[in-house]
Amino acid sequence: MYNKFNCNLKIAEKIKEALLQGESFHEELLNHKKNGDGFWNLLRIAPILDNKGVVTHYVGIKTDITLLKLRDSKIAEQREELLHVTRVGKLAEFVSSLAHEISQPLTAILSYAQAGQRILNDREPQLQEIMQSIINDDQRATEVIRRLRALLKKNKPAFEPLDINKVIRDTGSLIMTHITSKNIVVHFELDTNLPIIQGDRIQLQQVILNLISNSLEAMEESPDSRDLLIKSFLKDTQTIMVQIKDSGCGIPVENMKKIFTHFFTSKPDGLGMGLSISRSIVEAHGGHLEAENNPDRGATFYFTIPVIKDSI
Ligand SMILES: Nc1ncnc2c1ncn2[C@@H]1O[C@H](COP(=O)(O)OP(=O)(O)OP(=O)(O)O)[C@@H](O)[C@H]1O
Ligand SMILES: [Mg+2]
Repeated sequence: MYNKFNCNLKIAEKIKEALLQGESFHEELLNHKKNGDGFWNLLRIAPILDNKGVVTHYVGIKTDITLLKLRDSKIAEQREELLHVTRVGKLAEFVSSLAHEISQPLTAILSYAQAGQRILNDREPQLQEIMQSIINDDQRATEVIRRLRALLKKNKPAFEPLDINKVIRDTGSLIMTHITSKNIVVHFELDTNLPIIQGDRIQLQQVILNLISNSLEAMEESPDSRDLLIKSFLKDTQTIMVQIKDSGCGIPVENMKKIFTHFFTSKPDGLGMGLSISRSIVEAHGGHLEAENNPDRGATFYFTIPVIKDSI
């Protein structure tokens, strides 16, 4: 249980310790009103020294940062939600592709077993029985797979008029804390005169999140500067292009064709789903998703989205 007295004592100790060492104290503190409501203070106490380096007095500033904290936790909540939706989407696609792969051999097993039964034609009753068991179990497995696929049937995208820059900025700000903690410099070059597009906001956020996540992962091991450039511009009067350019490891030429296929991953904990889902989302929006290596280092992923005709 929260014990205000013990908590205050601990903070007083910390302040004393810092000040005795000649350091300033700087901490965000959660306090509680009488009615139990929490509020956040940023407490800063700094020693002021005279020209001989002797502490003459201390200056303390207390700032109420409750609103900032609330905004941060809202952003964190939204980020978690988007990451969750993206993870679930990848997993659903993974299981659905797996189900598709499994259903083909199951159909083949069924045909072979039925053919075997026909060839036996009332001879070898024991073998007939074994064949029937194979057929029954195969049909059971096929039914499980069929139900699984029905369960994972994709929701139709919810198209609405969208400002693609807003979708990019929202997604960027949701993962910004993640980005800054990895020493990555993010540049946005968003053309502010872009026409409106027609799209599913959550799905497009997933595409941008998948591409940014891949870039971050590609730059993880990079000893050099880690730059991420997110750009939007009008490719031609009918088409908007979004580019995500990183300075990561780049894509080996032999993998260039495979990266958009289901299950292809070079990561120990990857599903190999992010790019294939992203490509199908972009294509459902009437666009294309492609990749190329940069001349110096890293890769650029870019996708197009058609603009709404009367918004030009
Ligand atoms: N920006 C990039 N730079 C270099 N290689 C990349 C980049 N983006 C993707 N790749 C390569 O493409 C592969 C497939 O990417 P994809 O997002 O589909 O799957 P993943 O990231 O491995 O796993 P997950 O499904 O969890 O996202 C990656 O494993 C990686 O080898
Ligand atoms: Mg990925």
